[in-house]
Amino acid sequence: MTNTAPSTADAHSAPGAGDFAARAHQIAKVYGSGDAQVIALDSVTVGIPRGRFTAIMGPSGSGKSTLMHCMAGLDSVDSGQVFIGDTDLTRLRDKQLTRLRRDKIGFIFQAFNLVPTLTALENITLPMDIAGRKPDQQWLDAVIDTVGLRPRLKHRPSELSGGQQQRVACARALASRPEIIFADEPTGNLDSRSGAEVLGFLRDSVRKMGQTIVMVTHDPNAAAYADQVLFLTDGQIVDTMADPTAERVLERMKGFDQPGVKA
Ligand SMILES: Nc1ncnc2c1ncn2[C@@H]1O[C@H](COP(=O)(O)OP(=O)(O)OP(=O)(O)O)[C@@H](O)[C@H]1O
Ligand SMILES: [Mg+2]
Repeated sequence: MTNTAPSTADAHSAPGAGDFAARAHQIAKVYGSGDAQVIALDSVTVGIPRGRFTAIMGPSGSGKSTLMHCMAGLDSVDSGQVFIGDTDLTRLRDKQLTRLRRDKIGFIFQAFNLVPTLTALENITLPMDIAGRKPDQQWLDAVIDTVGLRPRLKHRPSELSGGQQQRVACARALASRPEIIFADEPTGNLDSRSGAEVLGFLRDSVRKMGQTIVMVTHDPNAAAYADQVLFLTDGQIVDTMADPTAERVLERMKGFDQPGVKA
């Protein structure tokens, strides 16, 4: 497959480029102080290409969740800038940030975070209901059919399998057609078959619907569904891989298990 999308490295030279759904420019995030200080993100510059599926991998504690949370406006950065489209999140007031998150960003977490008293369909449309927006019925139908949940729409989460619940969470993230979806280990709680179901669906939503997705994962098999992988160690992006396979990702990850080996 030829890679026509901008490479992640372009973000360094072209911070104003429009082909990225999200960008981080020299972002830093430090937790604690003194001996307890942890540099979670160490001047990260990265662009997430629009309409592509990007995986983020790296050892535990390397800053993956921090990077996602900062890029998604769920956490603030100490320095640097974060853009969703052309909007600089670091310049927004709380209210504007909340609105941008609601309108432009979708989230999928490891714990599905569904509302137990609502049906699958009610869960899918909940963010739009809260925002007082009417779902685009045609789009909603397409999303529901893509996730294969039509026969399950009236069921509550407790009546659904783990994979089905996560597909509801995926549909909820997609329903409002966000600029970008951030997923933090979306298959972490699923068996391999349900995981494959969810990953196949995420990939389809990129290929067929043009969605942009960023996914943190520990699993080389999951990363192989993505178009590219970013590798993070010690709060820095140390490598990228286009068109990953599970074998190549696994091989690359082995290098990170040895202390002192960075890239
Ligand atoms: N709220 C916090 N307070 C203090 N330190 C934190 C906080 N959140 C994260 N850290 C530290 O920042 C570093 C990066 O954490 P982060 O959660 O981003 O890692 P991760 O790559 O997502 O790890 P994992 O694969 O285990 O989920 C870690 O050393 C972590 O201990
Ligand atoms: Mg994490």
